[in-house]
Amino acid sequence: MILESIRRARLLVKSVANAQLDAIDMLMIDHVRVRALFVQLRATRNLERRHRIWERIRAELETHTRIEEEVFYPACEKVEQLRELAIEAREEHRQVKALLTAIDALAKDSEKWNPKVYLAIENVEHHVREEENRLFPRVRLAFDRDELKDLGERLRSARGTSKKASKTKKAA
Ligand SMILES: [Fe+2]
Ligand SMILES: [Fe+2]
Repeated sequence: MILESIRRARLLVKSVANAQLDAIDMLMIDHVRVRALFVQLRATRNLERRHRIWERIRAELETHTRIEEEVFYPACEKVEQLRELAIEAREEHRQVKALLTAIDALAKDSEKWNPKVYLAIENVEHHVREEENRLFPRVRLAFDRDELKDLGERLRSARGTSKKASKTKKAA
């Protein structure tokens, strides 16, 4: 079951790697990838390994939330019928980030580490469901095909920029 979802996520990522993806496709693929990592983390008992998976989740979340905040939500906020959901989404990001900061401050062997990580995962899962069930369908109605492709392009270049930015941050 776990291996199957990981395999499916990998296949999906691979099969669409060269296709021209629109903004929603790209964000959905990120969601699939992070969900697969949640499955892996939940299935892993070894603490060292859990921490390694968590680092990957953190990196995925950092890039994904950043490109949504830089590109996707601002585009949504310009459309009357999307504005409120985009603002709510930003608020949910803030809550998740606060949890991530709290987790960063914990010692690796803290007994609070697992409960806080699970809470963060539950928050992200809720947020992702809201985006997929409420925001994304409305975005598909509000923008035409070309606009969504263009938004996808902008997400792609923001992803490149945010990767460079976080490397610079780490090097500093
Ligand atoms: Fe989001
Ligand atoms: Fe998202």
